[in-house]
Amino acid sequence: MKTVFSGIQPTGKVHLGNFLGAINNWVEMSNGKNKNYFCVVDLHSLTTHPDPKDMDENILSTVKVLIAAGINLDNSTIYVQSKVSEHAQLSWILSNFCQIGDLQRMTQFKEKSSELGSHAGILTYPILMASDILIHKAHEVPVGDDQTQHLELTRNIAERFNNKYGVIFPIPDKTSGKVGARLMSLRHPENKMSKSADDINGTIYFDDSKDDIMKKFKSSVTDSEDEIRYDLDKKAGISNLIDIYSSIQDISHKEVEKKFSSSKYGEFKMEVGEVVANYIHPIFSNYDSLSDKEILSLMKTNLEIAKSSAKKTMEEVNSLLGI
Ligand code: TYM
Repeated sequence: MKTVFSGIQPTGKVHLGNFLGAINNWVEMSNGKNKNYFCVVDLHSLTTHPDPKDMDENILSTVKVLIAAGINLDNSTIYVQSKVSEHAQLSWILSNFCQIGDLQRMTQFKEKSSELGSHAGILTYPILMASDILIHKAHEVPVGDDQTQHLELTRNIAERFNNKYGVIFPIPDKTSGKVGARLMSLRHPENKMSKSADDINGTIYFDDSKDDIMKKFKSSVTDSEDEIRYDLDKKAGISNLIDIYSSIQDISHKEVEKKFSSSKYGEFKMEVGEVVANYIHPIFSNYDSLSDKEILSLMKTNLEIAKSSAKKTMEEVNSLLGI
């Protein structure tokens, strides 16, 4: 049986990129024969200095979205990172198996340090990610493409530790969705779709009304041609819409191009909007029907499972290190 680990930050509302890039895969994997850990990574979110008043609500909402999306709770553990102190403990240990130059080369470090100022948390962020993954000895990590470099680094860290102190960590693999592993903003198709509040019209949130969704697609940025063709370099906006459609409908880019070969951009945008609204709405209505009390109680039980797994790994690591 394989162990799966993945994480999501509780910073703002879950969006379509999170679903198509990661959560869809989590749902699929949770319905297989894996042992799954899905973690709300509040420690990682501290790199953005979030308002403490919003934290509990954002965490609860994120957990509810995961459950509403259909994660199979029979073989999944959903919990909050900061409640399992071993994540931070192992992170310190792993920092001794990671080169500063490797951290400085991370694209997300370069992007985020210009946005948030370069504090050490942004630099060491991927080490905490490695610790999240390795604390449960995960084999598979379903993430969007923006996390590829971080996964590579995790593999290197695991190998270095194993070589020096004894083989304890599996070398984890990245699992990507078929398409949609990197969804772009509808307004700025050169940037990825993100939770950030300064691009609300470029992002589809899980609780957007159909009206909001249609408006956002109507005003999505395309190009001056009128041909629905996948070309990331020349037609980033249309390619993004093709990605979204093909991901939700589970058909290839070529099939989308064929289906809409005689459609105008305006018609295509509305079709994609419809498909997205039909995809999002069942998730939102499931979300709405969940009881906060029941979810909080489930999180308590799940936390014990995560703690016990993390404690076991930490004891092995400490023993190998002689501490
Ligand atoms: P986060 O919270 O930014 O995103 C959660 C997941 O959603 C994916 N994602 C996207 N996929 C496609 N297109 C997009 N526009 C898009 N935006 C987000 C992300 O790839 C991710 O899989 N560092 C991670 C959280 C994390 C983690 C981990 C993940 C912490 N520790 C250990 C895996 C394993 C992050 O910030 O995800």
